[in-house]
Amino acid sequence: MSQDDPAASFPAHLRDISGRTAAALAACRYDGLLLQAGEPPGLFLDDQHYPFHAHPPFKAWVPHADVAGSFVYFEPGRKPRLVFHKPDDYWHQNADLPSEPWVEAFDVAVVGSQAAARAALPASLARVAYVGQPFPELLSWGLGALNPEHLRHRLDYERARKTPWEVACLREANAIGARGHRAAEAAFRAGGSEFDIHQAFLAACGQREQELPYNAIVALNEAGATLHYQHLRRRAPGPLRSLLIDAGASWRGYGSDITRTWSHADPDFAALVAAMDRLQQGLCAEVRPGVDWRAIHLLAVERIAVLLVEAGLLRCTPAAAVESGLAARFFPHGIGHLLGLQVHDVGGTQAGPDGGEIPRPPGHPALRLTRVLEPGFVVTMEPGVYFIDALLAPLRQGPDAARVDWSRVEALKPFGGIRIEDDLVVTPNGCDNLTRAAFATLQ
Ligand code: GLY
Ligand code: MN
Ligand code: MN
Repeated sequence: MSQDDPAASFPAHLRDISGRTAAALAACRYDGLLLQAGEPPGLFLDDQHYPFHAHPPFKAWVPHADVAGSFVYFEPGRKPRLVFHKPDDYWHQNADLPSEPWVEAFDVAVVGSQAAARAALPASLARVAYVGQPFPELLSWGLGALNPEHLRHRLDYERARKTPWEVACLREANAIGARGHRAAEAAFRAGGSEFDIHQAFLAACGQREQELPYNAIVALNEAGATLHYQHLRRRAPGPLRSLLIDAGASWRGYGSDITRTWSHADPDFAALVAAMDRLQQGLCAEVRPGVDWRAIHLLAVERIAVLLVEAGLLRCTPAAAVESGLAARFFPHGIGHLLGLQVHDVGGTQAGPDGGEIPRPPGHPALRLTRVLEPGFVVTMEPGVYFIDALLAPLRQGPDAARVDWSRVEALKPFGGIRIEDDLVVTPNGCDNLTRAAFATLQ
């Protein structure tokens, strides 16, 4: 493992999270932490299972996907123990413990059953906290606490600040995701359906659907107005107007979250996309330590209001569009969120390590991040404008109806909406745009 290899930063990552965990355990008066990776949930009245996804608190320690049934046991001052589950099973090919450098950071026990896993842990777990999915046998394990909230708050709060290893993983997840986006754009330009575009994305990422950090949103034309559009139509609509694709890739448990919007030969919509792209980059330039994310969100709403007026959609001042809530009808989500082991990472509105809540600005219930930025935070920047019937229809009957140019709305509605989303790591003086850097290497 060379010094240039991102994997070289894993031991320091483990030291960092060991230190954070030791402090959290001391504050909450536990002697140890037992983390479970989870098991794939079964389908009701069936012998099939949903795809396995390791629990995020476990993934913070173990950068490996094939870990169903495994545990990590940590006690301050000792090497963490990885109890790696490899059952004897001739129906499935269970993963071997990989021979990768990160494994050396653990004291490893390979076990074939849950009973053997228990035997590989300390005899008494009376002062140990468990974080994971409870399972029936756990009741007889003698644990001190199951998923105690005060401990989880401390661990969640700290997860906002990424270690260099985590940033390297997110950088790689962006590199893979950018390749997927390039292929998706080409499939769109070639006239592909949502299904075809999704297949192109997966193939270019080299990842199967269940490996992605979230369900990709691949929306042609008016479908772009559904914020979490979940279908993949097998036939391309005609005429093809626009693609909004929100899709990320995974690396070592960390995910990218990237959105691009493309116009199909419509200069008017393409100009609006270009304006949104400039607006998004302007907001990225505001990201630095000490900035309250709520202020970034409110600034985004102001700038989107300017864009709506300049695009001829609104016939009032930008200030009036913000004040009356008109701008929020076209931009009804938050400007971004924490990103990491989960696409909407934990702790975004937490007031401190003990818990508590930093309130959202009044009138902005969808904002997922209200904290002040610190170096090492990874956030998304994702302004958007959408033509959503459910939000616009009541406006037509309301007192602000005359402030909207409805013919302009009707002209743009068939394009669905626009979102541009990048992933940023906060640095001591500003931020690094992981997504733009990834796309730049492809040119
Ligand atoms: N992909 C979900 C989001 O952007 O928040
Ligand atoms: Mn996002
Ligand atoms: Mn997204």
